[in-house]
Amino acid sequence: MTAPDAPVLEARDLHRTYQVSRGMFAPTADVKAVAGISFSVRPGKTLAVVGESGSGKSTLGRMLTLIETPTDGRLAIDGIDVTGSTGATLKALRRKVQMVFQNPYGSLNPRQTIADTLEEPLLVNGMGGSADERRAAALDMLERVGLRREHARRYPHMFSGGQRQRIAIARALMLRPKILVLDEPVSALDVSVRAQVLNLISDLQTEFGLAYVFISHDLSVVRHIADDVLVMYLGRVAEYGPRDAIFADPRHPYTRALLSATPVADPTARKERIILRGELPSPFSPPPGCVFNPRCPLAFDRCRRERPELEGGVHQAACFATAHASVG
Ligand SMILES: Nc1ncnc2c1ncn2[C@@H]1O[C@H](COP(=O)(O)OP(=O)(O)O)[C@@H](O)[C@H]1O
Ligand SMILES: [Mg+2]
Repeated sequence: MTAPDAPVLEARDLHRTYQVSRGMFAPTADVKAVAGISFSVRPGKTLAVVGESGSGKSTLGRMLTLIETPTDGRLAIDGIDVTGSTGATLKALRRKVQMVFQNPYGSLNPRQTIADTLEEPLLVNGMGGSADERRAAALDMLERVGLRREHARRYPHMFSGGQRQRIAIARALMLRPKILVLDEPVSALDVSVRAQVLNLISDLQTEFGLAYVFISHDLSVVRHIADDVLVMYLGRVAEYGPRDAIFADPRHPYTRALLSATPVADPTARKERIILRGELPSPFSPPPGCVFNPRCPLAFDRCRRERPELEGGVHQAACFATAHASVG
């Protein structure tokens, strides 16, 4: 159907606007949670989506996993246009992309054994063969995420946070998806188990040839796992490009600020520290011009009037102040 190296996930100018009430006598207002996001991900690759809380990352994740419909734009999964799909095609597409949430306790049913939790997606989709075969598949997946077969009889509360996230990942893999959207998968975990779960996520990607969209508010978390990085600010792309380019040559002042907030491995390395002033503006009333301008140390007149487009080749940034330096 599609070439082996063709993108398994493609987003073109995705939008999601919410109509929210502002009180009984006020007209509803539009919240542009996602306002024009484009990217593509190939099999076996990881796109990291990074930005502060409120920048639209989870909304994007819900559109990619077909939980929510985009208000505008196009989305293709495995070469098939989701936007125009219905019925059986849509159901088949839903199986190809699964989600892992930040809080594994909230996403696991406390009254269900681990075996039932893992078998449920198979059962719901009429897959996995006989009851014995489904059980065997669940036990097999438990081992693959580093748990033991005897854990299958237990309940979620009997596990640690890290183990619960392993179970949530196992569940997401039961339908053999091609894409996993991981929304802050290690943010709720103790620092001591984060690296282990990140390693597992990385191993499973190789084993199953998965494409990942890895959502994080913390750039340092995605440093080793990302192939490409997309930096979001107030529903828009601030910067997008290969991981090494983003870390070595960040072009958007927002990316620079995020980077300067992350710890450096080499303590002798001199780092310019950029403090982000103020808070993310409300998406109710985004500032005119560049949405980052009220907090930007480089902002000048034009930034307050005009909205910068993404510019550059494989490494793109939306910034008037740094655009003259962009050649990639
Ligand atoms: N269902 C919804 N109704 C109205 N506003 C929403 C809804 N979901 C998200 N938002 C708003 O969209 C913006 C982006 O939210 P979200 O996608 O959760 O960001 P992030 O995951 O980056 O923290 C926020 O301003 C949030 O309040
Ligand atoms: Mg979120």
